[in-house]
Amino acid sequence: MPTAVISGTGAYVPTRVLTNKELESVVDTTEEWILSRTGIIERRIALPDQATSDLSCPAAVQALENAGLLATDIDAIIVCTVTPDMMFPSTACIVQAKLGATQAVAFDLGAACTGFIYGLQLAAHAIEAGSWSHVLVIGAETLSRIVDWQDRNTCVLFGDGAGAAVVSANGRGPRILGIHLGADGTDGHVLTMPAGGSRLPASLETVNGRRHFVHMNGQEVYKFAVRIVDEACSRLLDKLGLSYNQVDFYIPHQANLRIIEGFAKRLKLPLEKIAVNLDKYGNMSSASIPVALHEFGERPPQTGSKVMLVGFGGGLTWGSCLLEWQAN
Ligand code: UT7
Repeated sequence: MPTAVISGTGAYVPTRVLTNKELESVVDTTEEWILSRTGIIERRIALPDQATSDLSCPAAVQALENAGLLATDIDAIIVCTVTPDMMFPSTACIVQAKLGATQAVAFDLGAACTGFIYGLQLAAHAIEAGSWSHVLVIGAETLSRIVDWQDRNTCVLFGDGAGAAVVSANGRGPRILGIHLGADGTDGHVLTMPAGGSRLPASLETVNGRRHFVHMNGQEVYKFAVRIVDEACSRLLDKLGLSYNQVDFYIPHQANLRIIEGFAKRLKLPLEKIAVNLDKYGNMSSASIPVALHEFGERPPQTGSKVMLVGFGGGLTWGSCLLEWQAN
């Protein structure tokens, strides 16, 4: 059976930096509140002519280069996003055309902040089954287009960006040892964008009611996140017959530094063992983990180190993926 490895990664964030200080003139907030409650210092905002596919492509090109592959070597493109360029065609098809990945099937995957880990699972299974040899998994978001810039509860949290990984059959690169996924739709109402779909199509009423923006019950999502991040990791470790002390590094979803610090404290882990980039980028939903993975790989750990990716978010969804590090 072929082994699924991450043969290359890439990342792209827009050049426009939006600082906490600037947000003080947008909503009733302070630099101090944002930093102390979230850990975020600044975030990137897509330029007016940049849509999600435009962020995806440079990340994908870099991942292909790092994997030593051509776009035509790719069998499938999965774009994990809650902010597609449009309802259809899929952003993955738009990316396929832009890259010239003529041999690839292409589709979008909607699992919010857990999207990238869901994408890795599909890629790994297809590779292990022998169906595909190289799968491009992209997590990309332009959340600045769907946050309500009048709502201080949400607009200070999110940022735009894209991360990409090529998952290949065998070869060099971090090996996917296992993945655990979960979902609980019964609590999905705590994080939604209510309008713009078949339930509430766009109308004057939905626009005036600000229903095309992110609506989040932050405290409920926070409680869920704190619980599920531990459960997602321990369920996967149980499945693999491993224990926490065999994991060397963690790359968690970047929603709130307090969630990450709480996790570190419970595991008695120094923060250096946990990748953090939310100070620079805020919460980029499905892009957070692949961008952090790419940056983590720029200063790679020792061969054989075990690295846990763990995500949670809208749906509600969650997932974890354990990698065994090998240099590309
Ligand atoms: O990626 C998807 C997953 N998302 C998450 O994991 C997000 C999880 N939730 C969180 O990270 C936190 O709940 C937030 C950062 C969203 C909020 O932090 P909190 O400590 O839970 O604040 P809160 O919602 O309890 O609000 C505390 C106070 C409220 O004022 P009152 O009612 O006590 O007077 C808010 O209105 O802080 C106020 N507040 C703000 N004040 C200044 C909320 N947002 C702001 C703001 N600036 N931007």
